[in-house]
Amino acid sequence: MLFRTWEAGADAADVAFVDGHLLVSRHALVKRILADPALFRPDNALDAVSPMPVAALRILAGHGFRLPPTLANNHGASHPAIRAAVASALHPARVAALQPWLTTVVAGRVAGLRSALASGSTVDVYADLAADLPLLVLSRLVDLPPLGADVVKEFTRAALALFWAPVSGERQLELAETVGRFHDALRTFAASGPGLVASLRAAGHPTEVVIGALFFLLVAGQETTSQFLTLLMHRIAVTSGLAAAIAAGEVKVDDVVEEGLRLDTPIVTWRRVTAHDTVVADVPVPAGTSVVLWLARAGRDPDVFGAPTDFVPGQPASRRHLSFGAGAHRCVGAQLSRLEASAVVSGTAPLLAEAEVVRAPWCPDNLSFRIPDTFLLRAAS
Ligand code: HEM
Repeated sequence: MLFRTWEAGADAADVAFVDGHLLVSRHALVKRILADPALFRPDNALDAVSPMPVAALRILAGHGFRLPPTLANNHGASHPAIRAAVASALHPARVAALQPWLTTVVAGRVAGLRSALASGSTVDVYADLAADLPLLVLSRLVDLPPLGADVVKEFTRAALALFWAPVSGERQLELAETVGRFHDALRTFAASGPGLVASLRAAGHPTEVVIGALFFLLVAGQETTSQFLTLLMHRIAVTSGLAAAIAAGEVKVDDVVEEGLRLDTPIVTWRRVTAHDTVVADVPVPAGTSVVLWLARAGRDPDVFGAPTDFVPGQPASRRHLSFGAGAHRCVGAQLSRLEASAVVSGTAPLLAEAEVVRAPWCPDNLSFRIPDTFLLRAAS
């Protein structure tokens, strides 16, 4: 259940121990915990949920792999400066300036998909639209290592499996090799590359920290958004009349994006670890407990949302979801992912209105991420 929380039914306890993790599902509790990083530390954000066998750790060590505290996993004094450097690269004005270019890119891709549909083909809107788009966008804002999108995607998906999935020991060895090799490539760039990595170096951060920040940014900054775009397009495709209403301007695109973030967040849970013994909703919780914050469930809390499980763009409180976290570690890329989602919703609504689903996105078991494999459409009959 912990690895498919996006499918879980309605009967979740507010707080419960599940497989050794404290699972917290109510909006108010999740928010309170996110806002208290001194007691509920972010240190375990990138810890492997399936303990790694010694052989996998050796593979990683052989590549010099380390993930020191940088961004999401950093409660230390270096966090504000590293976060500020990333936030500066993703400054709202820089993000907003991408809109005309992004609209054109999406329109070009949608035109290709529409002609394929018109000729009777089945199209994969994950592979042909959403998979590499966020990486393309990120590369306009942040200098990245010169690696193909296929290489980056292979690595990020391996990292999401290695650290967050219930994988076998044998598979962990393969994943560790993929992640380790990528880490080598990041090392070269982190030591001499321009832009964000240069500013982190100039501020005196050790190379391992620069690599770690880049590593996290490449996972957080593109994989999550390509997942979200795919899940959101699916939601629009299967919600009766929604695509046509968006295309006709009867529903606000930003409202659709926000309900999508609430109901179809790609990051279903996020972790914290207790700094000392405490009590959460009357449940005693020892120091060192892994606390799994069920962000997706908090987005369906009936105390906050009038229609908690229905997709109702513009419903009151729609924006109060916790899909970007909260507090000192709140997502730095929120505006960017909203911009990308708006461009994709506007650009694809006419296409989605004329298509039918051949195969819905399927996601493998994972503690935190929904990782859609494909999303197939054909022209509606
Ligand atoms: C729909 C897409 C996205 C979702 C749902 C999402 C969600 C999250 C969540 C839940 C966190 C942890 C927040 C916390 O601990 O309170 C986070 C952190 C972060 N995200 Fe995102 N994110 C998305 C896209 C992005 C993008 C596009 C970027 C950058 C280009 C990005 C960069 C970051 C960074 C740097 C952090 C760490 C912030 C810190 O610890 O100070 N994210 N995100």
